[in-house]
Amino acid sequence: MTDMTKQTTLVLGGTGKTGRRVARRLAALGHAVRVGSRSGRPPFDWQDRATWAPALRGAGAAYLSYYPDLAAPGAAETAGAFARLAVSSGVSRLVLLGGRGEPEAELAEQAVGESGAELTIVRAAWFNQNFSEDFLLGPVLAGEVALPAGEVPEPFVDADDIAEVAVAALTQDGHAGQLYELTGPRLLTFAEAVAEIAVAAGRPIGYLPVPADDYASAAVRQGVPAETVELLSYLFREVLDGRNARLADGVQRALGRQPRDFVSYALRTAASGIWNVPAASSPIPG
Ligand SMILES: NC(=O)c1ccc[n+]([C@@H]2O[C@H](COP(=O)([O-])OP(=O)(O)OC[C@H]3O[C@@H](n4cnc5c(N)ncnc54)[C@H](OP(=O)(O)O)[C@@H]3O)[C@@H](O)[C@H]2O)c1
Repeated sequence: MTDMTKQTTLVLGGTGKTGRRVARRLAALGHAVRVGSRSGRPPFDWQDRATWAPALRGAGAAYLSYYPDLAAPGAAETAGAFARLAVSSGVSRLVLLGGRGEPEAELAEQAVGESGAELTIVRAAWFNQNFSEDFLLGPVLAGEVALPAGEVPEPFVDADDIAEVAVAALTQDGHAGQLYELTGPRLLTFAEAVAEIAVAAGRPIGYLPVPADDYASAAVRQGVPAETVELLSYLFREVLDGRNARLADGVQRALGRQPRDFVSYALRTAASGIWNVPAASSPIPG
């Protein structure tokens, strides 16, 4: 058995929604952790290969959360090149995060697998935390979430569950070669998810289904970069066409327990205060 506590684990995307949680849990278990991101020390940038080797120095394992998405153009080649360099630098174990139902991302999974590392692939559903730590926080605070997501149900998954699966795969034997599809325990439409957030936050928040073209042009008008709009449009068009409207058992298989429910996420997040509307924007009582 490999003693992974003696080696550094590189956590790519280590300031992001899953990476931050992975890094925190590894550190709590006594592992040496290096955050791999543009703000890490040393900095790691997917777009600058000269930053890769310094980030990998002394690492025995790595959590690979690609940015922006494994389905983005060039991702398979880039992720594969990184994995090969990682293995030649002494990394023996990799955990790769990807999305469900993305054929392009499967090419990246294959390219990373060809590196020869002990690989665990994690394919995750939409994260709950997109509503509190990412692009849906603003709309939640504004009281209306407008998305081209129609009425298709999605089994939203909690980033804490993803992190726990990743940490198990990084630190314990028996996960190499596994493909874990991670979902929450319930299918929810975006309308239902937003309604649960509204109840937890204690104020009205609506969901408005909008046509994909209207969504894209509004995002461009608000200054969202064209490639981000393109990627979001792709994700809404491809991944939310019903293909992922089913539960999977990756959390149960990897951790031997049920995944966290959306309602516990909503209550926990509401209690943190992140969905509180600043007093200046609240209606004046009286
Ligand atoms: N969000 C979801 O619902 C979802 C679902 C399934 C799969 N995924 C996958 O999760 C992965 C992460 O996506 P996310 O949206 O959740 O983002 P995230 O992990 O919350 O944030 C992005 C992370 O990547 C880093 N980063 C950004 N640009 C970088 C660059 N050029 N080079 C190196 N690091 C960079 C950021 O740190 P710095 O700013 O410090 O660089 C940050 O740590 C993606 O591959 C996505 O496909 C997401």
